[in-house]
Amino acid sequence: MSRHARWLIVLVALFAAMFVAIACGDDDDEDKTPSGGLSGKLEIFSWWTTGGEAAGLQKLYELYPNQCGGTVNIVNSTVAGGGGAQARQVLTTRMLGNDPPGSFQVHMGHELIDSWVTTNYMEPLDSLFKEQGWNDVFPKGVLDIVSYQGKPYAVPVNIHRANVLWYNKAVFTANGLQPPKTLDDFFKVADALKAKGITPLALGDVDSFASIQLMETVLLGKLGATAYNGLWTGATDWKAANVTDALNAFKKTLDYVNSDHSSLSWDQANDLVISGKAAMTIMGDWLEGDMKAKNFTNYGWLPSPGTEGVYDALSDTFGLPKNAPNKAAVLCWLKVVGSKAGQEAFNPLKGSICARTDCNPSLFDAYLQSAMTDWKANTIVPSLAHGAAVKPGWLTEISDAVTAFVANKDAATLQNRLAAACKTAGVCK
Ligand code: GAL
Repeated sequence: MSRHARWLIVLVALFAAMFVAIACGDDDDEDKTPSGGLSGKLEIFSWWTTGGEAAGLQKLYELYPNQCGGTVNIVNSTVAGGGGAQARQVLTTRMLGNDPPGSFQVHMGHELIDSWVTTNYMEPLDSLFKEQGWNDVFPKGVLDIVSYQGKPYAVPVNIHRANVLWYNKAVFTANGLQPPKTLDDFFKVADALKAKGITPLALGDVDSFASIQLMETVLLGKLGATAYNGLWTGATDWKAANVTDALNAFKKTLDYVNSDHSSLSWDQANDLVISGKAAMTIMGDWLEGDMKAKNFTNYGWLPSPGTEGVYDALSDTFGLPKNAPNKAAVLCWLKVVGSKAGQEAFNPLKGSICARTDCNPSLFDAYLQSAMTDWKANTIVPSLAHGAAVKPGWLTEISDAVTAFVANKDAATLQNRLAAACKTAGVCK
């Protein structure tokens, strides 16, 4: 064979190898250049495993190839457990071990900023926000809470409401009762239900967020928005008499819950409402996604007792960890998450409203349309249980105190521990 022919064979082989690499993509975790089409793995980490949660997430995954093209293989990486405490433990180990997922679910506010941004684990997303025009479509208050030193660090996919009372309409009609608007009404209705052998309030706090969230809604109902906000800024004295009253009301509320609450998840508690064994539950509006996933329609809702006009808010967001594998694919994931199409597909199934302001209300059901109206008209306060009101370390102390209280019902000790936790956080004197 001539020298020329040998060179030709080598060149043809080289081109063939390049072609195969471009066409098939390789499966390692290298960054993929968009010019060759996105490819490789994209790991999305969350705690969305229940009906409405998983269904909403799936919609985003389905939109990914439409919006991003390429051959990206999305890996749905989940750690079950409502409220995400277990998922956060796994995430923390991975982040500290320099093994971040492509992107992960994280609550807007303190959870995002104090866990991951000030500690230098995330990339700023200002260019992406600019390129996508997001500074004009997310409310300013939301942009502020996902930002640090003027730059956004995560893309909010939704707004959830924590202070909702859900009830089984048939149970109320059959017993000639009206769903309660105030805490006083709640206790009266609860007594009537109890007398008939119906569990008044379903609770599933195997994941402790559920009892913390119940406490937060009672604090909000008793104290009102201003004093509730003051709990997180030091303006409200944790030892004051109105806080004592509120904690006693929380204690009383626990007299009306199912006895197996500590072994049930929030969605298993919802099954008690659906079956009519329980009349009500107080839970964030992801419960509406659960109702939908379970095809149950005979439910009603109200702001949790005493909280009319107040929206106890939280948001799920996704960001770009430093050293994220397949960065180009992650950036396109974030585009999907922040897009109008993404938010309009995800939120009706998730039971949340868009973080964007331009979603089409007619794609949403009656509850979510009412939430959209309230989100614009109500006083917004940050959720305690879901990473918005306080720093993660403070929330851990509150969580420990509430978990102990739910077992021992010692309200005075709870109040002391909560007051001490505020001091330890450096917020109270
Ligand atoms: C919240 C989260 C919601 C929902 C809920 C129950 O923390 O923001 O999206 O998943 O937990 O798991």
